[in-house]
Amino acid sequence: MKIITLNDEAAIGQAIGDRFCALLQENPSAVLGLATGASPIPSYQHMISRFKAGAVSFAKARTFNLDEYCDLPAEHPQSYRSFMHAQLFSQVDIDPQNTHFLDGNATDEAAECSRFDALIERFGGVDLQLLGIGRNGHIGFNEPADTFTQGSFKVQLAPSTLEANSGYFSGEHMPTHAMTMGVGAILRAKEIVLVATGAAKAEAVKAMIQGEITPQLPASALQNHPNVTVYLDPAAASLL
Ligand code: PGA
Repeated sequence: MKIITLNDEAAIGQAIGDRFCALLQENPSAVLGLATGASPIPSYQHMISRFKAGAVSFAKARTFNLDEYCDLPAEHPQSYRSFMHAQLFSQVDIDPQNTHFLDGNATDEAAECSRFDALIERFGGVDLQLLGIGRNGHIGFNEPADTFTQGSFKVQLAPSTLEANSGYFSGEHMPTHAMTMGVGAILRAKEIVLVATGAAKAEAVKAMIQGEITPQLPASALQNHPNVTVYLDPAAASLL
């Protein structure tokens, strides 16, 4: 893993946003793996500013999002589909038809997960995957578990995830389950960038980089990937 510590989240967003733009300049129809949460927002803001400057186009890009809540209407403001629309898709020239999500409301969950995994493979796999990390070391919604997951699946969210994300639902009942790409599928991306900022992530970051590889800390699986760059701010890097 390559570890890069930058001063603040704006500098990290610039570095990651530039990497995505460089890939799209080289390969306009690249397959992008996208993430939600607070961590990726500065990266999306930088991509938007590069798009507005005429430096990059998303017109031929294809995107796959890591995860989506179950039992939440797609048009709910806290669905990850809504998040991506607000934070990136509505502000660049991406074709909505080329943006792909797991359908957390599918009645046949297994079929939905197979559909999503097969679609990623059909487009040649993810070229560049953006990740955050949970305080419990999750990537996507792969919570601590006894074995590493492979393909997409439905997961019960861990108590620490419910606590971390409940603020977004401001008193409203928050979903307890989600569908997520598995760890095995994430590791098939050709290149991975992970962003972690703030002291609340410092322990998970240390375990991911310096701890044993264990499904109890799903991000530790990234130690096995040949092309991972981890971007940290000083607080997230403070225990290294
Ligand atoms: P955050 O979430 O960026 O909102 O901290 C990251 C994650 O849980 O993967």
